[in-house]
Amino acid sequence: MNKQFDVIVIGAGPGGYMAAIRAAQLGMSVACIDEWKNSKDGPALGGTCTNVGCIPSKALLQSSENFDHASHHLADHGISVSGLTLDVTKMLGRKDTVVKQNNDGILYLFKKNKVSFFHGRGSFVRTVDGGYEIKVASAAEEALVGKQIIVATGSTARALPGTPFDEELILSNDGALRMGAVPKRLGLIGSGVIGLELGSVWRRLGSEVSILEALPTFLGAVDQQIAKEAYKAFVKQGLKIELGVQVGEIRTTKKGKEAQVSVAWTNAKGEGQTLEVDKLIVSIGRVPNTIGLDALAVGLKLDERGAIVVDEDCRTSLPGVWAVGDVVRGPMLAHKAEEEGVAVAERLAGQHGHVNFNTIPWVIYTSPEIAWVGQTEQQLKAAGRAYKSGTFPFLANGRARALGDTTGMVKMLADAASDEILGVHIVGPMASELIAECVVAMAFRASSEDIARICHAHPSLSEATKEAALAVAQRALNF
Ligand code: FAD
Ligand code: NAI
Repeated sequence: MNKQFDVIVIGAGPGGYMAAIRAAQLGMSVACIDEWKNSKDGPALGGTCTNVGCIPSKALLQSSENFDHASHHLADHGISVSGLTLDVTKMLGRKDTVVKQNNDGILYLFKKNKVSFFHGRGSFVRTVDGGYEIKVASAAEEALVGKQIIVATGSTARALPGTPFDEELILSNDGALRMGAVPKRLGLIGSGVIGLELGSVWRRLGSEVSILEALPTFLGAVDQQIAKEAYKAFVKQGLKIELGVQVGEIRTTKKGKEAQVSVAWTNAKGEGQTLEVDKLIVSIGRVPNTIGLDALAVGLKLDERGAIVVDEDCRTSLPGVWAVGDVVRGPMLAHKAEEEGVAVAERLAGQHGHVNFNTIPWVIYTSPEIAWVGQTEQQLKAAGRAYKSGTFPFLANGRARALGDTTGMVKMLADAASDEILGVHIVGPMASELIAECVVAMAFRASSEDIARICHAHPSLSEATKEAALAVAQRALNF
C-alpha cells in the first residue's frame, strides 16, 4: 500500500526543510523528498543554499578574507607575517566540512521532529481516479500519498545560450565553489550578487578578475548612492568591472594541460573586445527548477519564466498543492524561502502564516558588505513619495576606526510627513548584521525618531544607524 502522509514536501532546501519541520511541529505527519547527492551518493540535505550556495560561499568568503587580511592589513596593526602560504585544498576541505555539518544538522532536525525523509526524485503521477500521488524515484521506488503537497524544488544556474556549463572551464556557482587552484585570470559574466561575492573570493586569493555586465548601471536594484560607494571600493580592490557590455561568442581551447576561455564582447562604446581567461564563471541569474516534477502532466500551472504560479499565500493552480522559495515569484533568497515554507505549514494547520515582503532584507557579503531593506531612493522618487534622507559615514564611527574599516555609510529614508522608515541602505563593515535592527524597526513600522531615541552601545557600528536616523532630522551629533 502507498505510504500516506498529511504533508509531502518535495525539496529539502531552506523552503522545503523549514516547511517540513514546522508542519511536523504542528502535529502533522510529514514526508520530505530530496534528490541531492553528496560525493558518496548519499543524501545532502539543504538544497542549493547548503550545498552550492549561501553556506559554501560564505565559508570561502571568510577564508579568503582572512588571507587578504594577513596579506595586506595585519601590518597596519603592527603584526608582520612572513612566509604566508595558501593551501587551496585545505580551504576547500574546510568549506566541505562546514557544508557537511549543515547537511547533518538538517537530517538530525528531521529525526528530532519525526519527518520521514526519502532520498530520490519526487514527481507527480496521475492516478486512475483523476487525483495524483507522488512517486519517489530511488533505489527502492516508492509511491506516497499526501493530503497536501508543498513543492520547494528551488532553482538552477542560468547558462548563456549556446554555452553550457562544463564545470571545468565554464563554471556555474557549483564549479566556481570548488576550483582546485587559484586561476591566474578569472572572468565572470554578470556583476550581480554571485559575480561580486565569488569574484571577491578569487580576487582575494590572487586571481586577476574581470567582470562583464550587460546593464549600464552597477547594481541597478540597489540604492544608487550605496551602489556607487561600493563600486569605488571594488574597483580600488582590483576588480575590473565593465558595464553596458554585450557578450558574443565564447570559445574554449585546450592544448595538453593548457586550457583557456576566450570571450568576444562589445563595450559600451560599441567597440569589439576579447577577454582571455583561464576560467569563466557565468552568473547571470537563476531559473526556477521544475525539471523532473512532471508538473505539466498533472496540470500545474507555470509562468513564462518557468516559475510555478502561486497566489500570495503560495497556493498553486492545483487544489492541495502549494509552492515556496526559488521555484515561485519573488526574490531568490534563502530566508524568503524559509519564511514562505513556515507560513504554508502554519496555513495548513489553520493558522495565519504571514510573510511581509516589504521587510525582506538583502545582503551582498562582499567587503564592504552591502545590505538593505525596504525601498531605495530611486524607487521613492519614481513613486512620487515625499521622503527625508539621512546618511552617516563609517569614517566618523569610533568602532569602525578601531576595526580599521571605515568604508561606506548608513542611509535611512523616512516618509516626509509621518517619519515612518521606508528603507535603510548600508555599505560598510558588518552591514549584514546591522541591517537586522532596521528590519525589526520596519516590521514594527518605527519612525526614524524611534531609532534616534534608542540607546545604542558605544563604541559600536550600530551607532552609525542611530546617527543616520538623527541625520534624517538634520541633527546628527558626530558628523
Ligand atoms: P533550493 O535550495 O534550490 O532547494 C531545492 C531542493 O530541491 C534541492 O535540494 C534539489 O535537489 C531538490 N529538488 C529539486 N527537484 C526535486 C525533485 N523533483 N525531487 C526531489 N528533490 C528535488 N540566499 C541568501 O539568502 N543568502 C545567501 O547568502 C545566498 N548565497 C547564495 C550563493 C550562491 C552561490 C547561490 C547560487 C545562491 C545563494 N543564495 C543565497 C540563494 C539561495 O541559495 C536560494 O534562494 C535558496 O537555496 C532557495 O531555497 P529553496 O528551498 O527554494 O531551493
Ligand atoms: P543576479 O540577478 O544577482 O545578477 C545577474 C547579473 O547578470 C545582472 O546584473 C544582469 O544584468 C547580468 N546579466 C544577465 N545576462 C547577462 C549577459 N548576457 N551578459 C552580461 N551580464 C548579464 O544573479 P546571480 O548573481 O546569478 O545570482 C542569482 C541569485 O542568487 C541572486 O539574484 C540572489 O537571489 C541569489 N544569491 C543571493 C546571495 C545573497 O543573498 N548574498 C548570494 C548569491 C546569490
